[in-house]
Amino acid sequence: MLNGKKIVLGVTGGIAAYKAATLCSRLVQKGADVHVIMTDSAKQFITELTLQTLTRNVVYSDTFDEREPSVVSHIHLADMADLVLVAPATANVIAKMAHGMADDMLSTTLLATTAPVMIAPAMNVHMYDHPAVQHNMRLLVDRGTLMIEPSEGQLACGYVGKGRLEEPETIVEVVEQFFESKEAAKQGLNQPVSLLKGKKVVVTAGGTIERIDPVRYITNDSSGKMGFAIAAAARDLGAEVTLVMGSTQVQPPANVDVIRVQSAQDMYEAVSRHWGHADIVVKAAAVADYRPKEVFEEKMKKKGDTLSLELVKNIDILETLGKQKSHQFLIGFAAETHSVEMYAREKLERKNCDLIVANDVARPGIGFGADTNAVHIYDRKGLVEELQVMSKEDIAHRLLVIAAERIAGRN
Ligand code: CTP
Repeated sequence: MLNGKKIVLGVTGGIAAYKAATLCSRLVQKGADVHVIMTDSAKQFITELTLQTLTRNVVYSDTFDEREPSVVSHIHLADMADLVLVAPATANVIAKMAHGMADDMLSTTLLATTAPVMIAPAMNVHMYDHPAVQHNMRLLVDRGTLMIEPSEGQLACGYVGKGRLEEPETIVEVVEQFFESKEAAKQGLNQPVSLLKGKKVVVTAGGTIERIDPVRYITNDSSGKMGFAIAAAARDLGAEVTLVMGSTQVQPPANVDVIRVQSAQDMYEAVSRHWGHADIVVKAAAVADYRPKEVFEEKMKKKGDTLSLELVKNIDILETLGKQKSHQFLIGFAAETHSVEMYAREKLERKNCDLIVANDVARPGIGFGADTNAVHIYDRKGLVEELQVMSKEDIAHRLLVIAAERIAGRN
């Protein structure tokens, strides 16, 4: 998978920089063409000569040290990269990336590249938890930067906690998976009308809105991006797609039938109308579990110091569909913050789904709002596939390929 892939590896100045040697060596062994850019601080921890010897390529660190007159090095590196990987990524480089600063060779290259960017942060546990660092990482993830989260354990600074650079072997695995999924997506796009041709796919996306009065409502943070990616992937695989969308901030994909709804009840009714003819139904929407018992026709006026709103349970759309299932292939989602596998598999059983896509929304870069996701797909027997951090488009494509294969197997 890595044969001939041009990887620009940014090495920044933390103690974990020494692991860049193993990382370079593993990437090169897998056939990658690795070009290292080091920051000045990184050179305090590991030498240029080490990384140059391991990669057999010139190591860059000074923007103005132009060794090849025919090219401008940082632009050349930015343009040639299939992937820019920053490992280890310090809090400082993360902040520079988040705010578009370009004051050295690495940050300049990062700003100039249009290649995918992946970062593997490593730092002290309190630095990692600092709101500024968390905010910067979210900014990057929202912009599509792929994140290899640090692991937990003994840190070089003496603390035990989250902040350790992920092991080079794991980073290489993630890089391989990234190229694999890109390749799979490319192949899918090359044969867009085969896999789901003639199939009807219904996708729900976004959050529901549960009215309190004419100017107030209860909703949630769902961006709709995952459901939209699924609708677009189904369309690209040749399906006839109905997208039932609740509240979102983003535009739905083109060339799919869009039905806009507000409440869980509206969503249920819209899905029900298409249920009978659907081959695949994907419930990616974040449906409110409860709605206000009473919807006030006029704006509620302020009264006492406290206000209690009585909520009543909404219909569980997925569970209701699960009970009515005949030929339909039903895919549910489970957004969890803890005990992800246990809750997801329990939902799969209870809601009678064929597959459930579980994501740990507590991890940065995962789930609501982000362009990337990392999921575990389960069926009744257990784990079907783990998809590491990748774009929602790639996840959507893979999910539908699995569904299409299973439908084909049934027939
Ligand atoms: N779902 C649904 N109708 C609801 C609630 C959830 O169709 N009223 C669907 C979601 O679209 C998703 C799946 O059920 O595909 C799981 O949703 P989630 O919110 O994770 O689970 P809940 O059943 O609401 O359980 P809990 O809130 O206790 O985690």
